[in-house]
Amino acid sequence: MAQRASVLTQPYRAYDRVERGGFDEELARVGRGSPCGEYLRRFWQPVALSSEIKDLPVALRIMGEDLVLFRDGRGRLGLLEKACPHRGTSLEYGKVQERGIRCCYHGWHFDVDGTILDTPGEPAGSPIKDRICHGAYPTHEYEGIVFAYMGPEDQKPDFPIYDLFVRPGKRLVTAKVHSPCNWLQIRENEMDPVHITFLHTRLFGVQFQPVYGALPTMEWCETPVGMMYVTVRRWGDYLYLRSNDMILPNIARVAGIEDGEGETVFDRRGGTTNWVVPVDDTNSLTIGWDDVEEQLPGDGRDGYMDRMTRAGKNFIGPFDVGQTGEPTYEQRQRAPGDWDAWVSQGKVARHGWENLAESDRGVSMYRKLLRRGILAVRRGEDPPGIVRGQTAPLPTYSNNTVKRVARGATDEADRALSLAFGRAVNEKVLSGALRGEGWRNAMFPLPRP
Ligand code: FES
Ligand SMILES: [Fe+2]
Repeated sequence: MAQRASVLTQPYRAYDRVERGGFDEELARVGRGSPCGEYLRRFWQPVALSSEIKDLPVALRIMGEDLVLFRDGRGRLGLLEKACPHRGTSLEYGKVQERGIRCCYHGWHFDVDGTILDTPGEPAGSPIKDRICHGAYPTHEYEGIVFAYMGPEDQKPDFPIYDLFVRPGKRLVTAKVHSPCNWLQIRENEMDPVHITFLHTRLFGVQFQPVYGALPTMEWCETPVGMMYVTVRRWGDYLYLRSNDMILPNIARVAGIEDGEGETVFDRRGGTTNWVVPVDDTNSLTIGWDDVEEQLPGDGRDGYMDRMTRAGKNFIGPFDVGQTGEPTYEQRQRAPGDWDAWVSQGKVARHGWENLAESDRGVSMYRKLLRRGILAVRRGEDPPGIVRGQTAPLPTYSNNTVKRVARGATDEADRALSLAFGRAVNEKVLSGALRGEGWRNAMFPLPRP
């Protein structure tokens, strides 16, 4: 009988499999005290949409911690530990007050910072409210999303403002999606551009525009805010470059899909910015914004967004493409999306089972950067990506760029052209040379397929 092995090398030998199983505990675990949990806690994390907070408290679970979120009568947000510090009744049944919240059971009254204001069932003058405090986290509300800082108080960074958040003429529309799986496998999807060619374009009908069916050249590089991929696709006489940002530790910027059908390019319309925040080790929320441009520039570009608007659709962002579990199981089997890909990797992807290949270099690089951040936290340093003393929006680098470049004499020569084009543009993008009008002028029309 053949020897059992963790990597099979012959057909019809599943019986020989030794399960390597296991998952990457350092990156996948998110609870308090876990390496990645401590790292993620150094950053502001989105926890809910503002629209979810009405008159009742909202029970939340974030990074394995049970919390309750509410807005008191003064309009202040409170994010408190869910269990009352008296005898543990959940504050999701509490009564929101003009100031803070009162526990339903014995009426203990908490301010939004955890201060105990009153313990009405105790004798007058009881010192207990001054001796203890309830657990609370600071919050920050921005563009319809509530963020929390759940790390050590003396390490709290600025809430970072990226250029994407403040682009003129753009409205940010919030979105939130739950996935019943670990955060890492969701986030890794963003640094895996080859799946766009197969999952989104070639295999199940075109979810994105046809140009994405071309297999791109792919490179990844670090940026001042994290990392990015740079893909270049051959499209007739043109080369089409597309790159997306990964902003450390868990923010993806997906460039607009403006140019996909080919005639027109504009760098960032219709894009998405989102965080994947762990609920716990086996559940996650994707929270962020789709960009909506109410006023499309009348500059004759007539791109994808313009056509969608004329068709009565304001926008379509990647948040809308297969990133929810809403279709039926059969529909999802016939045309799966990202959500099905990452959820089906398991509650926590079995990293020991993987056989990482050449096209997974972005995934490997992302993991390496996360480990670098974890190490920094362990050493007592600020991990890369922490923002302090910010004076201007931080630049990001995702873009679509198209240029007429005659096809190379051979496939190999054409590939070399694509790589060279990608590197040349990316060098300019990273240097800041392609910004403002200069950036726009780098765009060229693409032919129809
Ligand atoms: S359990 Fe909350 S006041 Fe008693
Ligand atoms: Fe995708």
